[in-house]
Amino acid sequence: MCGIIGYVGKRSATPILIDGLRKLEYRGYDSSGIGVIANTSGNIVVRKTKGKIKDLVNLIDKQKLPQGQTGLSHTRWATHGAPNRANAHPHFDDSKKILIAHNGIIENYESLKENLKRQGHKFVSDTDTEVIAQLIGHFYKGDLFDAVKRAIRQLRGAFALGVICKDHPGTLIAARIGSPLIIGIGKDENYIASDVPAILNLTRKVIYLKDGEMAVLKDDKVDVFTFLGKKVAAKVRTVTFNVDAVKKGGFPHFMIKEIHEQPDVIEGMLKLRLKGSKVVLKEIGLKASELKGINHIFVVACGTAYHAGLAGKYFIEKLTRIPVSIDAASEFRYRDPVVGKKTLIIAVSQSGETADTLAAIREAKRKGAKVVSICNAVGSSLTRESDGVLYTHAGPEIGVASTKAYIAQIAMLFLLGLRLYDFKKALPKKEVSRIIREFKKIPGRHKEILAGKDKIAKVAKKNSHFGCFLFLGRNINYPSAMEGALKLKEISYIPAEGYPAGEMKHGPIALIDEYRAVVCVSPQSDIYEKMISNMQEIRARKGKIIAIATQGDAVIKKHANHVIYVPPTHNLLTPLLVALPLQLIAYYIAVQLGCDVDQPRNLAKSVTVE
Ligand code: F6R
Repeated sequence: MCGIIGYVGKRSATPILIDGLRKLEYRGYDSSGIGVIANTSGNIVVRKTKGKIKDLVNLIDKQKLPQGQTGLSHTRWATHGAPNRANAHPHFDDSKKILIAHNGIIENYESLKENLKRQGHKFVSDTDTEVIAQLIGHFYKGDLFDAVKRAIRQLRGAFALGVICKDHPGTLIAARIGSPLIIGIGKDENYIASDVPAILNLTRKVIYLKDGEMAVLKDDKVDVFTFLGKKVAAKVRTVTFNVDAVKKGGFPHFMIKEIHEQPDVIEGMLKLRLKGSKVVLKEIGLKASELKGINHIFVVACGTAYHAGLAGKYFIEKLTRIPVSIDAASEFRYRDPVVGKKTLIIAVSQSGETADTLAAIREAKRKGAKVVSICNAVGSSLTRESDGVLYTHAGPEIGVASTKAYIAQIAMLFLLGLRLYDFKKALPKKEVSRIIREFKKIPGRHKEILAGKDKIAKVAKKNSHFGCFLFLGRNINYPSAMEGALKLKEISYIPAEGYPAGEMKHGPIALIDEYRAVVCVSPQSDIYEKMISNMQEIRARKGKIIAIATQGDAVIKKHANHVIYVPPTHNLLTPLLVALPLQLIAYYIAVQLGCDVDQPRNLAKSVTVE
């Protein structure tokens, strides 16, 4: 949800900022801009444009930016105001002395704007961000830090800010509450960025700015303060993932690269977490006695992470008989859920910055529940606010459509289920041992599926003309069907619905005719026959069926137009396998239709606003 990168140092800021912006483009890509303090004139010079970073680069090629060693840039996902040049960041104050880039939403911007207008300030955009620039300008009397401090105390909402001022070349100010911002520590230069990939080729030393903190960056030092101006000792951490993780590595898109990373993600996780048949989740943050006492689990998450949570529900309930409820975080936060001291909240999030998920855990904590988060982004807000954190360590996910993070979330939920089984044994030990044995084979099974991707591509291309898709699954693969539909609609814009197959007759069957395709997720299980009955009903209405089935299932060929096989595994682990063909179907259809797979329209990677 918008990407910021800022630079202060001895080198020319522009190439560094543009390079960083490219790596943040997944966060928003409807308009972008850059501003630097010119060495010669001392003025701040800005270039902004509608469209993607390549459009900004084209603009700078035509209208060169002057040399400058302090600068700010931004790639936008519009919240307030259309995606056009005027609304693109960075934004000036009236005096054009102060320039800011912002990520987040200012909830009280209208009243602040009215107030500032009454005092003579002139606005040129429809954004909430311009209010911050004007407010800082309003308070500015020569002390930039003081003006930023006074301005941010008036803001309500979420923000990550970068601020520069023409009177102070060589100074960059940052502040955050509710939206992510990191500080990169370089040699003779320092940076701010919305996410680590933007600065990974510059430094591995980062400070994760906390909510309510601001920082003053110069080329040779970084000082961190509270919003009240009290200095704090910030921890400098070393980022471990390597630069290749944020490159396409020979693949045409990040999405397909990340799909291929899934075997390694699971292998790495199992190596770390499974010692023989013992599940090790030390960072869970709850004592054994607390885990034993859990009588209800709530999973809160959004989008794909919600679907992972739903698969987790089926798994955990089966192994432990602990009731698991699941809420879209945006619902949980407002519906006054019944949560008590023996309720465990599992918050699932790739980014750890999703506004609704954060609000949901705050609500749960207020009610006395313990929160364990399953998260991919190290040091994110969610991880800081949880009692325990189970990192998925899937590496940076750049494709906007989540793939490897989803698989990692499911796998971690299953591991958590196995850990809770230690206290509440609802399945025979022998069966759980079989689950663990099969779990260890998943990376190999993934590789088998990926080796057959050309066949999946063919099936996808053959079916890419359908104007509507239905995805059906039952039991633990009902979430898989939901996720398959979400993947397809978000990257190809084809209307797609995910349904529990048993619900088909209660409405969606009306959609089916020869112009619709139905993807039936039907691996071998005790409800396989039920899926076959659904497929017969679809065929009777001339619907075209793509079935995802278990290798060796010859029967299904009679019922489906196309069959994509996955290797056999334990029924409860099938979501970890069927996800891959579902992702690949969506990917190849979107490619066939010429869609922008990594940056689908209207979406952004991390949804830091409600
Ligand atoms: C879909 C997708 C989104 C996210 C959702 C939650 O491919 O990526 O649905 O899953 O916005 O994001 P996180 O996991 O960062 O909380």
